[in-house]
Amino acid sequence: MNIALGSDHAGWELKEEVKKFLSIQKADYKDFGPYNEEPVDYPDYAEKVCEAVLSGKFDRGILICGTGIGMSIAANKIKGIYAALVDNTFSAEMTMKHNNPNVLVMPGRLIGKTMGTEIVRIWLNTKYEAGRHEKRLNKVKALESKG
Ligand code: RB5
Repeated sequence: MNIALGSDHAGWELKEEVKKFLSIQKADYKDFGPYNEEPVDYPDYAEKVCEAVLSGKFDRGILICGTGIGMSIAANKIKGIYAALVDNTFSAEMTMKHNNPNVLVMPGRLIGKTMGTEIVRIWLNTKYEAGRHEKRLNKVKALESKG
């Protein structure tokens, strides 16, 4: 599993914690920035991480901003990206089982490091159930071609 990571300034602190957690888990990752807490624009980092995932060099992406909302909106504008905004462990499990998102988004200003790293742990260790969800995800994919 190779993970692309990005945030804005409001998600920087949690991104650092996620990096520590991924290192302990011996998961491969690349931090696409930012590398300090200077104010930046979240769409720039959503683009970097989503392009990295779409390139095939990374299996999944993680994006973090203050609320997670800006990153979610930006990421889900990109064709082929299915970004799930998660702030609790139940949603982390259910979104992987039912929605098979290739990008996880978290709200750095709303959750602490314990919740953030637990969400990542569950998201990485839960399998997509396919089955009845496949038809629904195909319908979501069909929406991409609507103007
Ligand atoms: C930055 O102040 C904040 O707007 C951003 O992190 C995010 O919450 C936007 O949705």
